[in-house]
Amino acid sequence: MIKYASSAITVGKTTDGHSPAHAPAEESLCPVVAHEWVNDEYKHLVVKASPKALAAQPGQFFQLLCPSPDEVEVWFRRPQSVYRVARSSERLEFLYKVVGRGTQGLATLEPGDMLGMVGPLGIGFTLEPQWKNVVVLGRGVGLATMAPISQLAGEHGVRVTAILSARSPELALAADLFENVGTVIKVLDTDGSSAVDNVERILRRLIAENKADAFFTCGSNRLLQLMKRVAREHGIPGQAAMEQIMACGLGPCYICVRTFEVNGKKEMRRVCVEGPVFDLQEVLGW
Ligand SMILES: Cc1cc2nc3c(=O)[nH]c(=O)nc-3n(C[C@H](O)[C@H](O)[C@H](O)COP(=O)(O)OP(=O)(O)OC[C@H]3O[C@@H](n4cnc5c(N)ncnc54)[C@H](O)[C@@H]3O)c2cc1C
Ligand code: FES
Repeated sequence: MIKYASSAITVGKTTDGHSPAHAPAEESLCPVVAHEWVNDEYKHLVVKASPKALAAQPGQFFQLLCPSPDEVEVWFRRPQSVYRVARSSERLEFLYKVVGRGTQGLATLEPGDMLGMVGPLGIGFTLEPQWKNVVVLGRGVGLATMAPISQLAGEHGVRVTAILSARSPELALAADLFENVGTVIKVLDTDGSSAVDNVERILRRLIAENKADAFFTCGSNRLLQLMKRVAREHGIPGQAAMEQIMACGLGPCYICVRTFEVNGKKEMRRVCVEGPVFDLQEVLGW
């Protein structure tokens, strides 16, 4: 028996339980199909999802109703980005780091258990038709968020250079997905290659080789600031996904408000509905 934090509320459904076509998100209960550790810190969760959930775009996220890992309630759902969508087999995948009580509870789910999800939520990544070669740069859980860019790129014939920053090789997540659509460069703490000046050298080389029509980043403030600076210098468009603590994930609570800079003016925006993906130059950082 799974213990949930709260009784299910119905988001995006009419009183008769149907999800109207115009509602972009819905609440659904999805059976867990597979749930495995990929290393000491991350778990890969696969659920059988509804058609609306399967419409999720790269960079969009779901609010997951995490079971309690103990006898005490877990308050609020936890946001997790979509890692992969397999529409033909109706599977939706998440790759998440087990950090606190919410994700510890999530980690207890077993195949056959039901997972309460609200989504897809937020605004995801986009690819412009003129972009043929793009650069993805991320670290930590940010790699899970950016992984589905590989799927989008594959569908549009775009080549990706993915610079995956990690403490050690086994934490350079999503390398297998990005290898299918381009080149993977792992930059690691173990050999010092994750140093910002080395990543900057790699970015500048890619620009010189005409492999950087656009930049994408998530997961590290240092790398965000680097990418933003290099992109501004060379006039390269970019997108950054923000990871911000959330409560509702739907817009009304304003917990997730951050300051952005738009046309030289400071603006407050909610990461859950106006993001989590933003124009790289408008993001001020974490
Ligand atoms: C849009 C979005 C997409 C995300 N996608 C992924 C993903 O694909 N994979 C993944 O592993 N994680 C992802 N995260 C982060 C994930 O939501 C948090 O790790 C999770 O909520 C932690 O919950 P917890 O109860 O286990 O930890 P808590 O006990 O709540 O917190 C443990 C630690 O995690 C930090 N934390 C809590 N919530 C967040 C948050 N929302 N963002 C960043 N840090 C947080 C806390 O400050 C604390 O240090 C995403 C976050 C957002 C906002
Ligand atoms: S999390 Fe409630 S408004 Fe964004």
